[in-house]
Amino acid sequence: MSLELTESKDIREEEVVNLYRANKWSSANKPKQLVAALKNSHTLLTVRDKGKLIGLGNAISDGHLVVYYPHLLVLPEYHGKGIGKMIMHRFQEKFKHFHQQILVADGNAIEFYKHCGFSPAGNTQSMWIYTGNDH
Ligand SMILES: CC(C)(COP(=O)(O)OP(=O)(O)OC[C@H]1O[C@@H](n2cnc3c(N)ncnc32)[C@H](O)[C@@H]1OP(=O)(O)O)[C@@H](O)C(=O)NCCC(=O)NCCS
Repeated sequence: MSLELTESKDIREEEVVNLYRANKWSSANKPKQLVAALKNSHTLLTVRDKGKLIGLGNAISDGHLVVYYPHLLVLPEYHGKGIGKMIMHRFQEKFKHFHQQILVADGNAIEFYKHCGFSPAGNTQSMWIYTGNDH
């Protein structure tokens, strides 16, 4: 592996859809909106192995106090190699002075996020209006 973690919005639709489809994420079915959303994020981190997109994470933020991490995913064949943690650590370094870093952890990812330093958010409950079908 020759990994490169970059803060970059230089992404192509085809490689993004490949990454989302591989993880069975329904936003792969809205490729134009997906790429536009990622490019419109406050921060987009990509990981490439010899140029191949193998992981990404995005952050949306008010720029001062609060940052949300909506998407984080790694190609399945690269899971368990420290790549997700590498992305989260870069975000945490960038946003460490913010009042709140927050995310919605899907069932399988809860333990992963605990490994990254996150804890359940007090007496809160995640709520949404969602048109996807993958949760
Ligand atoms: C969740 C995901 C991003 C984790 O990325 P990853 O590169 O596979 O994870 P890492 O190798 O960086 O793991 C970091 C640590 O978390 C642990 N971990 C990772 N996934 C875990 C899991 N499902 N259960 C328990 N521990 C887990 C690892 O053992 C590792 O522990 P360590 O710090 O002691 O070494 C990746 O599995 C993925 O893309 N999943 C599908 C998409 C998804 O669910 N995204 C999150 C949406 S909320």
